[in-house]
Amino acid sequence: MKSHATTACDIALFGALGDLAQRKLLPALYQLERSALLHADTRLMALARDKTDLAGFEARIRERFKARIAEADWDEEAMSRFFSRFTYTCLNFKACEGYQSLTQWRDGRKAPLIVYMATPPSLYGTIGEHLSTCGAVGQNTRVVVEKPIGQNFATSCQINDRLARYFSESQLYRIDHYLGKETVQNLIALRFANNLFATQWNQKYISHVEITVAETVGIEGRWGYFDQAGQLRDMVQNHLLQLLCLIAMDPPSDLSADSIRDEKVKVLKALKPLTGDLLETHLVRGQYTAGNIEGAQVPGYLDEEGAVSGSSTETFVAIKAELANWRWAGVPFYLRTGKRMPQKYSQIIIHFKPAPHYIFDPDQKHIANNKLIIRLQPDEGISLQVLTKDQGLDKGMRLRQGPLQLSFSEAFQAERVPDAYERLLWEVMNGNQYLFVRRDEVEYAWRWIDRLIESWEAMNVPPKRYPAGSWGPVASIAMITRDGRSWYEDV
Ligand code: BG6
Repeated sequence: MKSHATTACDIALFGALGDLAQRKLLPALYQLERSALLHADTRLMALARDKTDLAGFEARIRERFKARIAEADWDEEAMSRFFSRFTYTCLNFKACEGYQSLTQWRDGRKAPLIVYMATPPSLYGTIGEHLSTCGAVGQNTRVVVEKPIGQNFATSCQINDRLARYFSESQLYRIDHYLGKETVQNLIALRFANNLFATQWNQKYISHVEITVAETVGIEGRWGYFDQAGQLRDMVQNHLLQLLCLIAMDPPSDLSADSIRDEKVKVLKALKPLTGDLLETHLVRGQYTAGNIEGAQVPGYLDEEGAVSGSSTETFVAIKAELANWRWAGVPFYLRTGKRMPQKYSQIIIHFKPAPHYIFDPDQKHIANNKLIIRLQPDEGISLQVLTKDQGLDKGMRLRQGPLQLSFSEAFQAERVPDAYERLLWEVMNGNQYLFVRRDEVEYAWRWIDRLIESWEAMNVPPKRYPAGSWGPVASIAMITRDGRSWYEDV
């Protein structure tokens, strides 16, 4: 296969035997190998605390791959090539001494060093410090860090300040894996390559926007972490606000990372604070109880493994967000995300306003507005709901709503839709930061979330219960119904 890999680099993966590495990063790197997207001279160093060696590391990862890599994607030649790139280093990340093995491995090589910190954020500063002390950090070092960047604005500043001691902003790649999803990038193409939409993309033509990120999973053995975070910090502060930014931002002057990120920051700054009485009508928090998902009985949040009774952490949030700017004044953005929903799907719906004067059957007036449906997962695609005349002499001028559809899996048949992490790792290797989150984005998002949390904590109202397998508390339906609208559930 022809290689499209651009530059050779060294990737040092801290936390190489951790959950994220095994579930996402190593499979993604393998897929890049299989697609000939890793340069022949790219080397990989796996760093973990486990006392094992290269053979032991390979055996463990191969075992895990059996469940992660589809049979059709298992290519033994690529797999052997992939593992032959590795060195395994057993390292206590907190102790400076062991870091010499990284310097020795580098041995003065000029190729960029990518440090992927697949570790708890509390270790980012320590790893940065030790890397810097042992002389491994240079101009061509790139550092990838994962969320959560803090629990709030203050703690995110601490983490960012610590990282800033050792790395400049242009070296930092903060991951929000939603930005690596194929349709999310297509959103940029859709908005800024089609003038058709550019003229319609504002409060004059759009009535409201819905963003739903629904998951069927519960807490999956992460109760301790999740209970400290909750759905608002875990999903809204990052993924949902990033999607909102991409929908709401003004056109950037080019595709450079800073042009795009400057525009996203303007959106975050324009978010109206949700505080005080507004919370009663603009926010719903929920927590799931026992129920049924895809035919199986599942426990409630408080009965999950490791649960502590009485927790009032939310597993569902619905928010009516508004932006104070010319483009979006008066256009609500309804955000909804929850665990243990009936289906896993992520979808954005742009609801256009109806035509100024309606001339068709009054009974059909309720369907007379266009919708643009952007499906992130599953079945990635974009569909524009348009109105046409129903076919047949007897139908008169009856209207019919139908899709102008672009299904990526049908349109690009042979192609596998790459996982978000494949795209993101590929962009890091090429030194492109546009799909990564800049420090000020993280911080403005936290400022908005912090104010919201402060207000709801002051209200001291427990989350509303919803049975697993439902679309959240009825209050979420009431929130949107009050505005004469409903959640779009034709999925
Ligand atoms: C992660 C959250 O960032 O995103 C998880 O921490 C969540 O709680 C996950 O399940 C959802 O990602 P995806 O790609 O499966 O929608």
